[in-house]
Amino acid sequence: MTAGKAGRASSSSTGPDAVLRWGVVATGRIAHRVTRDLACLEDAELYAVSSRSKGSAQAFAEEHGFAVSYHDDPSGSGSGSGFRQLFADPRVDVVYVATPHAQHFKVVRAALEAGKHVLCEKPFTVNAAEARELVDLARSRGLFLMEAVWTRFLPATRRALELIRGGAIGTVRWVQADLGFPAAYDPNDRLWDPAAGGGALLDLAVYPLTWATAALGFPTALAANGHLNQDGVDVQNTITLEYPEGAAAQLTSSLQAAGPGTATISGTAGWIRTGSPLYNPKTLEICTLDGTTRVEEFEEETEGFIHELRETARCIRAGLQESPLMPWKDTVQVMQLLDQARSQLGLHYPNDQRAGAA
Ligand SMILES: NC(=O)c1ccc[n+]([C@@H]2O[C@H](COP(=O)([O-])OP(=O)(O)OC[C@H]3O[C@@H](n4cnc5c(N)ncnc54)[C@H](OP(=O)(O)O)[C@@H]3O)[C@@H](O)[C@H]2O)c1
Repeated sequence: MTAGKAGRASSSSTGPDAVLRWGVVATGRIAHRVTRDLACLEDAELYAVSSRSKGSAQAFAEEHGFAVSYHDDPSGSGSGSGFRQLFADPRVDVVYVATPHAQHFKVVRAALEAGKHVLCEKPFTVNAAEARELVDLARSRGLFLMEAVWTRFLPATRRALELIRGGAIGTVRWVQADLGFPAAYDPNDRLWDPAAGGGALLDLAVYPLTWATAALGFPTALAANGHLNQDGVDVQNTITLEYPEGAAAQLTSSLQAAGPGTATISGTAGWIRTGSPLYNPKTLEICTLDGTTRVEEFEEETEGFIHELRETARCIRAGLQESPLMPWKDTVQVMQLLDQARSQLGLHYPNDQRAGAA
């Protein structure tokens, strides 16, 4: 453990108004972005960070004002991995996990076993078997656990669902959503690395699926097409979801091509189109059959991660183990859809070697 110089004043205990002490696992790209929003969260103390390397842990703690930092013991014989040291710290109340997907299961399981509440990056795990095991563990330990699908908590998303559920566009019949960008091939980047759960499906399809399942629920059938590269990760995929009475969703995610990056939800009385990117839209375009089109705009004070952080804190203070906005069953069902898509694409990962996995 390394004591930093900048940590914010610490609080006493848990309770409805208590300051929650946060631990962050990993110091990569998303960890920095989410931590910047964490610094804006009410009643949160940026307490500890862990990294595989001492230098990254200390630099991250210094930059964001964490009180302590933990790192792996390179000798392998001492105090063990940085994240296990962070979980052993009794002052940590809740941890945010920002490792690549393939490590989510191992890290979240260790956090829950140590008695910590957990917010884990999307995709929650590599397969549904891992997701079910973590949910069962959280349930049995009485701990809060949530997948960090930030889109679900945004004001624009909540407004779109309010409109849809209120009948503003009639009965939803189809959803079309895409997310893609041309990503430079880099075998050392987690996006392209099979061992890290690389590929467009696990990284990007979560967002089009979020809009489809929010608007139409979970489908009766799924058909996936896609292209795998020489390393066996998918560079592009299309997913069709089928629903009763012919309702459908068409979803595309790509590491090869740029797209509009929007979601369109179409119903018997009109349609709603999100602004781009669909994972953090700032506008909703609403068109109804009377010929009216209007645009609703949504201002953000922060990058937008604060809403999932606020929901995490709210649930922990309220003694909830899961959020009604991102319930465990939705996380597991999305992982099941991703498993089905992977099986049709022939996309396999080392994590699948675990018993019962896809
Ligand atoms: N919500 C969103 O908008 C959003 C956006 C981007 C990514 N994500 C998700 O966040 C996760 C991380 O993505 P990222 O873009 O931040 O990746 P990244 O830049 O590669 O960072 C991941 C970090 O995890 C740690 N790490 C790397 N390999 C590891 C291993 N084998 N074992 C343990 N730790 C390892 C490293 O931190 P240390 O060196 O400090 O250990 C690394 O910097 C992914 O699951 C991704 O899907 C979410």
